[in-house]
Amino acid sequence: LNPETVTVLLGDRSYDIFFGREIYSLFQEWICRFYPGGTVHVVTDRNVASIYGGDIQRWLAGIPHDVLALPPGEEHKNFDTVREIYGFLARGDAGRDSLVVAFGGGVVGDLAGFAAATYLRGISCIQVPTTLLSQVDSSVGGKTGVDLPEGKNLLGAFHQPTAVWIDPQFVETLPPREFRQGMAEVIKMALLGDEDLWSHLQDHAREIKQAGSAALTHTIASCCRLKASVVAADEKEAGHRRVLNLGHTVGHALERLSDYQILHGDAVAIGLNSAARLAVRLGWFSRETLMRLEELCREWQLPTRLPPEFTPDAILSAIKSDKKCLDGKLHFILPLRIGAVIERSDLDMEELKRVLQEQQGS
Ligand SMILES: NC(=O)c1ccc[n+]([C@@H]2O[C@H](COP(=O)([O-])OP(=O)(O)OC[C@H]3O[C@@H](n4cnc5c(N)ncnc54)[C@H](O)[C@@H]3O)[C@@H](O)[C@H]2O)c1
Ligand SMILES: [Zn+2]
Repeated sequence: LNPETVTVLLGDRSYDIFFGREIYSLFQEWICRFYPGGTVHVVTDRNVASIYGGDIQRWLAGIPHDVLALPPGEEHKNFDTVREIYGFLARGDAGRDSLVVAFGGGVVGDLAGFAAATYLRGISCIQVPTTLLSQVDSSVGGKTGVDLPEGKNLLGAFHQPTAVWIDPQFVETLPPREFRQGMAEVIKMALLGDEDLWSHLQDHAREIKQAGSAALTHTIASCCRLKASVVAADEKEAGHRRVLNLGHTVGHALERLSDYQILHGDAVAIGLNSAARLAVRLGWFSRETLMRLEELCREWQLPTRLPPEFTPDAILSAIKSDKKCLDGKLHFILPLRIGAVIERSDLDMEELKRVLQEQQGS
């Protein structure tokens, strides 16, 4: 067994992302080599534990470990749950050389990552992502986050994982709507930086839909490779990392306006289409490529139109109040062609408004 590997190059914080089906024996070898002797603290959620309890035991066979299964869902991505993880670590005598393994989706990854970042001023964390979204996006890059009643991800820390272990087979049990959420980020990645991935998505949709297929593994690895290169260039989002926000300006506004009834990936898909339409309007992106983006979204049951209940004015004011607005300016990422984007902070909001009107109407 020789799993495919992508390295995130960050000096002494560099780490590997390993891909492959049933890579648990390599995982065990790796843990025994780098964390000999210590107890491993596994954090998961109850959904994942109920489906994959046996797999968690298989992954950790022969390694002293304890397991904490958190209540699942974004509504538990809060500080009470973080406290629960702190208590679990303290009761398990976790020390500076202990290891946290986040075994689950993005919520588990963000919570366990944040707890690991802050417990004893930082202990090691490994990500074993089990949703498509966490495999292609949240497990890589070292961002952790916790929600406050006042807003999402208001707490957080940069804490790079020590390794990421991705078994694409896990996504087999994902409900279709969760798979779709991950695909929105995949399409975003292809549009912003990977022409080959774009062609792969167009040519191999049927194979990608099969969990554990080589086509799906290739899709996930391509996203991780791209994210790794963006993160290596700008770990703490001083500039370049913002390209990952493609589609997220309008996307976040829709999530907030809908009180999170519109799911993140669905909102991002609509936002990708807004960005592409704006770029077409400005003469920077071809109409034909916009049509290909719409087709790709349709292939994955992702929306492209704005729901009628949100007026362009409401969306614009939600965008302006986003905490990501820097010095009062909107930093908007726009596609130029497949695989290339540009960041602009001088866009005319009236143009965006027309695009939103058009996206709602036609
Ligand atoms: N840190 C980052 O860089 C980053 C990036 C993007 C998103 N995020 C965060 O990620 C979170 C969303 O992640 P998510 O979409 O993975 O959500 P999630 O962790 O809530 O998982 C979605 C649902 O699927 C269940 N689940 C997990 N694995 C499963 C499997 N293999 N089979 C069946 N069900 C499974 C979970 O229990 C949950 O109910 C958000 O909180 C978001 O803020 C973080
Ligand atoms: Zn996103």
